[in-house]
Amino acid sequence: MMEDITVDMVSKRPLPLFNPRDPDFIRNPYPTYHWLRQQSPLLWDPAGNYWLATSYDVCSEILRDRRFGRRYGALLENIYRRSMMDQTAFRLMAMTMLMQEPPDHTRLRGLVTKAFSARRVESMRQRIRTLVGELLDQLVPRGTMDVIRDFAHVLPVTVICDLLGIPAEDRRLFHETAISTRMLDPVPMNESELREANAMFEEQGAYFTDLFERRRRDPGDDLVTALVQVGDEGGLTNDELLANVWLLFAAGHETTRNLIGNGLLALHRNPGQLARLHLNPRLFPSAVTELLRYDSPVQFVGRTAFEDTEIAGTTIAEGQVVLCLVGAANRDPAKFDEPDSLDLGRSNNRPLSFGGGIHFCLGAQLTQIEGQEAFIGILGRLPGMRLQDIEEPSWQPNFAIHGLKALMASWDPP
Ligand code: HEM
Repeated sequence: MMEDITVDMVSKRPLPLFNPRDPDFIRNPYPTYHWLRQQSPLLWDPAGNYWLATSYDVCSEILRDRRFGRRYGALLENIYRRSMMDQTAFRLMAMTMLMQEPPDHTRLRGLVTKAFSARRVESMRQRIRTLVGELLDQLVPRGTMDVIRDFAHVLPVTVICDLLGIPAEDRRLFHETAISTRMLDPVPMNESELREANAMFEEQGAYFTDLFERRRRDPGDDLVTALVQVGDEGGLTNDELLANVWLLFAAGHETTRNLIGNGLLALHRNPGQLARLHLNPRLFPSAVTELLRYDSPVQFVGRTAFEDTEIAGTTIAEGQVVLCLVGAANRDPAKFDEPDSLDLGRSNNRPLSFGGGIHFCLGAQLTQIEGQEAFIGILGRLPGMRLQDIEEPSWQPNFAIHGLKALMASWDPP
């Protein structure tokens, strides 16, 4: 008789299909994804109490199907076994467009889409190029850097602070504070992680609340001023204003930082592809897309079934949660030839790294530009850069957001 892989044969308790906290999984989740997908593209994990979607088609279908969506409070209860809405961090997160459904989602997203129009974003390219140049002017003479701390974090924080209109003299707080991305994981945070997440929201929340007051008195030509004015006209509550400005700030840098970090690591682990990029700079746009596919900064997005729904021959019951493992979908051999190979010239490359459906990433185009300019700058100015710990770099202990803690690099200074 076949052994039941979902039950501990001794305790008879459900076994997790995988452990999202296991450092080996976090370091390289792809073999586990392949194994899960081979069992079934849609698997019930009894220990996690969620479905795992691992194929491209199933993830893509669920993300676009309006019978699935957000029930953030219920999702948290599924994870924590109690209501979490008395916690500042979760209460505010619940008010972001990311966690909302129409009509509130449509209203909140509609207020900021103009700032992310293709033309507005493309007009930021020159400023981003200048920022990359200035950062590298400071770093190149040093001969060494932590790519994450000194470059990959600083660039997107500066870009999103520009966009929001956070004054240059206030930015230290944002350059120095890390966002608590463990909040997005399906494994509960412990007490100290929860305290840290609440403290971060309270500190950054206090700063933003003060900035809103300043912008009321002294309006600027920036997104925060525009949103404060919408709020004053009754289009946004105070908490919605705070939550969504915070979301833009957080979503605007954490993921882009990991694109730069994961991307540079992947390039250096694949020296043939790195050389190809040096020889053919026209590949930069498709290289960014491929790096997003190959080691996605966001590994999954969660959805809840609003009604009993059949997907790929399996019924997902109303109220059940599905983790769409976009990191797995991006390595699905049914969608991508040789999915575990990095191919910077890959054609027809449509990874799910930015999600899909109504929550499709608002910053996708900005990310493309930041990614291109970052890689063009680093490869152009530091062609002989060497990475330390290329085999075993240290990863942040998160599942949803996948990125490095640090990535030390050196080169021969000029
Ligand atoms: C490598 C970079 C990025 C990645 C991989 C990424 C990924 C994602 C994903 C997967 C979602 C959808 C989540 C879901 O459906 O549950 C999302 C939503 C979002 N992203 Fe990004 N993102 C990136 C950069 C950015 C940037 C630069 C910004 C803003 C400046 C941004 C702003 C947002 C916002 C506001 C949402 C929520 C949209 C909504 O709910 O309608 N992202 N992002």
